[in-house]
Amino acid sequence: MEIVDQTRLPHARVTVSLASGSDAAHAIRSMQVRGAPLIGATAAYGLALALRADPSDAGLAAGYALLIATRPTAVNLRWALDRVRARVTPLAPAARAAAAWDEASAIAAEDIATNRALGGHGVQIIEALAGARRSPVQILTHCNAGALATLGWGTATAPIYLAHAAGVSLHVWVSETRPRLQGARLTAWELRAHGVPHTLVIDAAGAALMRQRRVDLVLVGADRVTRNGDVCNKIGTYEKALAARDNDVPMYAAVPSTTIDWTLASGDDVPIEERDAAEVLNPGGEPIAPAGTVVANPAFDVTPGRLFTGLITERGVCAASKAGLSGLFPEHVHE
Ligand code: MRU
Repeated sequence: MEIVDQTRLPHARVTVSLASGSDAAHAIRSMQVRGAPLIGATAAYGLALALRADPSDAGLAAGYALLIATRPTAVNLRWALDRVRARVTPLAPAARAAAAWDEASAIAAEDIATNRALGGHGVQIIEALAGARRSPVQILTHCNAGALATLGWGTATAPIYLAHAAGVSLHVWVSETRPRLQGARLTAWELRAHGVPHTLVIDAAGAALMRQRRVDLVLVGADRVTRNGDVCNKIGTYEKALAARDNDVPMYAAVPSTTIDWTLASGDDVPIEERDAAEVLNPGGEPIAPAGTVVANPAFDVTPGRLFTGLITERGVCAASKAGLSGLFPEHVHE
């Protein structure tokens, strides 16, 4: 399978071929692919590749173990691997690799449809803000919850792309997203490719922009949403939510159902990935702090659901709460 190596963007659009479960694990771990839905789909294909090499029960268990250990926070990884494993476990080993590939392709196709449906609900929020006014709707986003993070459309970007295509005047503030700069490197790249007006700001500028009434809407993605509506997303999301609440700016998370973890009661239980100190210390290859400086590099944070105006899912918009989520997904109420 082919992936776009996101570590090379925005300087070069380079595709890389993945030929084994280990290749897929490396791509996820090194963040050549990243973003919750894309991590899930890549892992699904990775398990299919692993089964090509060894379709036995032991091969299935080893491939699953290798891939599940790549990144801890986005629940789409576990969801996709569980789905492929459930599909192939009852099959004879000889039939497993093809069935796994088939399942991975279904996951990929469903992701595109899910994001399009989610976008159809989210675009109504943007259109309502646009109303009859002539000035652009000002949207602030963080990290990259765009097409690059998914199989198509993106989650937070799907409403933006639909609104832009419908002629709604809008402008996106892109938060750079230290330390990996997914906003600067990836969101700015894809908004430019789509012709969506945008401005890059440093992470710390978001709150000031909100206080100056230069933001009408904050729209972010999610890596894991727990049963009570808490949202785990890229580090810095919580700060945006605090600023949004203080300034009465509506804030939504775009959440495909594949990102909801029905097994966890609250965001306190989400495993937060701690990444290498080098990402913070040497952002451009040169150290920016004295040698020996101790670094903490949590990659995600948890925002209590009460700070969100709502969650945008493929089934509609709901409150970021247990009642809100179970209203849209009643089949999960008893999990
Ligand atoms: O560390 P990353 O780049 O994988 O983190 C990505 C995010 O936090 C996204 O907001 C989230 O995965 C949603 S992607 C549609």
